[in-house]
Amino acid sequence: MIVSSTIHLPVLLDETLEVLAPHADGRYIDATLGGGGHAEAILTASSPSGQLLGLDTDPRAIQRVSDRLARFGPRATLVHANFRQLESVARAHGFDEVDGILFDLGVSSFHFDEAEQGFSFRKEGPLDMRLDPTTGLSAADVVNTFDEEALADILYRYGEERRSRRIARAIVAQRPIRTTTQLAEVVVRAVGRRPGARLHPATRTFQALRIYINDELGALEAALPQAVSLLKPGGVLAVITFHSLEDRIVKHFLRQESRDCICPPGTPICTCGHKAQLELIYRKGITPSPDEIARNPRSRSARLRAARKL
Ligand SMILES: C[S@@+](CC[C@H](N)C(=O)[O-])C[C@H]1O[C@@H](n2cnc3c(N)ncnc32)[C@H](O)[C@@H]1O
Repeated sequence: MIVSSTIHLPVLLDETLEVLAPHADGRYIDATLGGGGHAEAILTASSPSGQLLGLDTDPRAIQRVSDRLARFGPRATLVHANFRQLESVARAHGFDEVDGILFDLGVSSFHFDEAEQGFSFRKEGPLDMRLDPTTGLSAADVVNTFDEEALADILYRYGEERRSRRIARAIVAQRPIRTTTQLAEVVVRAVGRRPGARLHPATRTFQALRIYINDELGALEAALPQAVSLLKPGGVLAVITFHSLEDRIVKHFLRQESRDCICPPGTPICTCGHKAQLELIYRKGITPSPDEIARNPRSRSARLRAARKL
């Protein structure tokens, strides 16, 4: 199948709509607009009067989605912002007490398709990897200036790369590294290609650098409590994750916020005073059907978790 460079298929779309159950007059936040697929479906399902606030940290996504959602007029408000600032952005636009909030984490197909953003090791491009190119360190800054131990640490923590030390040593020895394919070659030379391996040897290195550069896990940890505070009672928080690091954060947060007491196990009397704010909708989350995975291989590792505000 040839995947067009202008298409990003929304993952777990039917399941997300089922759990958010958009309705007319409802107010929704899409914290990760991407290509606007989920946002468009939420606006359509909440016709004629549902409102949507959409955020993306990538200004190019906002531009793309403005055209796609133009027909919804003032029902869609799109803002270039990091969801780390979710609460202040939402309140500034009158979106408090909302019916549903969606996070569809990570990057979109557009990021891999556009070589100049430096996300793909298959396409020659500058080593950038910033979702928001207006701020922060690029992958080139990290790869060419961090010491070997710091690089190994990033690869191990965010890529779960077992050969992190060997790769970090090779990176430092081959600097300066300016392009995506140059970095991919350094990794391949350092660790070799395993016959029959499903993943390209540079996959974990690229994932680790991307997560670190965009502080993806820090932003998620900061945003989840803000999302809960914006929901009205009965409102739904839905989060689609793509790897175990982010899924662990979401799972832990939703479990914790759905319990009345979070004292350490074995504590005889509750001293934390914690009160449940959420009710889990699925215990283990929902994964894509084999059909969806066949249609959209990118959905393979997706998991939807959701909870309802009490
Ligand atoms: C998987 S895509 C979303 C796809 C979208 N649901 C659709 O149907 O097209 C993830 C998007 O989230 C954005 N993103 C990642 N981290 C973000 C953050 N901290 N704040 C806001 N947007 C973020 C990325 O730029 C990307 O466009």
